[in-house]
Amino acid sequence: MVTKVLKVSNEAVKEASNYILNGDVVAIPTETVYGIAGNAYNGDAIKKIFLAKGRPQDNPLIVHISDMDMLKEVAIDIPKDAYKLASKFWPGPLTMVLKKSDKVSLVTTAGLDSVGVRMPSDKFAHDLIVNSGVPFAAPSANISGKPSPTNANDVYLDMQGRLPLVVDGGDSLVGVESTVLSLLTGTPVLLRPGYVTKEDIEAVLGKEVILSGAVIESLKEGETARSPGMKYKHYAPEAEVIIIDANLDKFTSYVNDKTDDGLYCLVFDGEGDLIIHPTVSYGKTDDAKSQAHNLFTALRTLDKLGAKKVYARAPLKDGVALAVYNRLLRAAGFKEIKL
Ligand code: TXA
Ligand code: MG
Repeated sequence: MVTKVLKVSNEAVKEASNYILNGDVVAIPTETVYGIAGNAYNGDAIKKIFLAKGRPQDNPLIVHISDMDMLKEVAIDIPKDAYKLASKFWPGPLTMVLKKSDKVSLVTTAGLDSVGVRMPSDKFAHDLIVNSGVPFAAPSANISGKPSPTNANDVYLDMQGRLPLVVDGGDSLVGVESTVLSLLTGTPVLLRPGYVTKEDIEAVLGKEVILSGAVIESLKEGETARSPGMKYKHYAPEAEVIIIDANLDKFTSYVNDKTDDGLYCLVFDGEGDLIIHPTVSYGKTDDAKSQAHNLFTALRTLDKLGAKKVYARAPLKDGVALAVYNRLLRAAGFKEIKL
């Protein structure tokens, strides 16, 4: 299959809509990361998404909607909390897990009776839903297990020959995937941290949000994941990644003693000069938004440079930084050294 690349435009919206309505899948920009979009109501289309990514069939996809009428098409028994959060954070990078309607294909939800829903703020993604008239299901546009792509070139490298169209909308604004929040019981559970934080959600709902254990811990043998996506190896570059939780001084002396072959350090802006090994930066110190924006590109850059082992500076562990830490921890296979 030849994969065409088109810049965002009205023409690209029409062409992508045609593919979606024909039961094909296309790679598109969103404000979080790039996604592979297919008609959420059409199980055969969704199977093509799983195939293109090499994704396990038991990992459900997020359904993307354009307005609140469409929310009622895809979900039932929608709680008041969902409306409160929607009025504050939609359109934007928040996914809510709700009871699914019959219209949404069980292939989309991997057989679950719940559905993850979000309303993207990216103009192209929004226009695509309006133009095609159907919600699209979209996972991140990477080969399963690799870092999510945040630009069209990285999508193309993974998806070339696997789908007919990649739409290029430039760099993703946010850089990490949406926050996933379950509203299936009265107590909201944060399944995946993102740009919309636990604290942001608690402020709107006026109640506590439970952090799912899997956010910063690996699953123990036999434990089942509430969000099936959390049990798989994720976001991993080819290199072995090890997080070093230490201040800059300790980090520097630790890594400067090492002599491993193919060693790189993943650091913050301006720190490279202190380190004798080659470095890649993933944003500004103490600026979690900048780290979120840059992390996946930095992980992919390490692969392009041929890194074999990577020592990474640790981000903070609250607010937006929790999203960064959660992704980096998976990239590292949960290997972290505290100094
Ligand atoms: O920002 C995003 O959400 C991106 C862009 C493309 O919109 N999409 C994305 O999709 O990250 P994906 O498939 O890579 O991640 C979906 C996550 C998985 O961890 C999955 O297990 C969880 O959401 N999820 C989806 N539906 C769920 C459900 N019904 N119950 C629990 N978890 C669910
Ligand atoms: Mg993903």
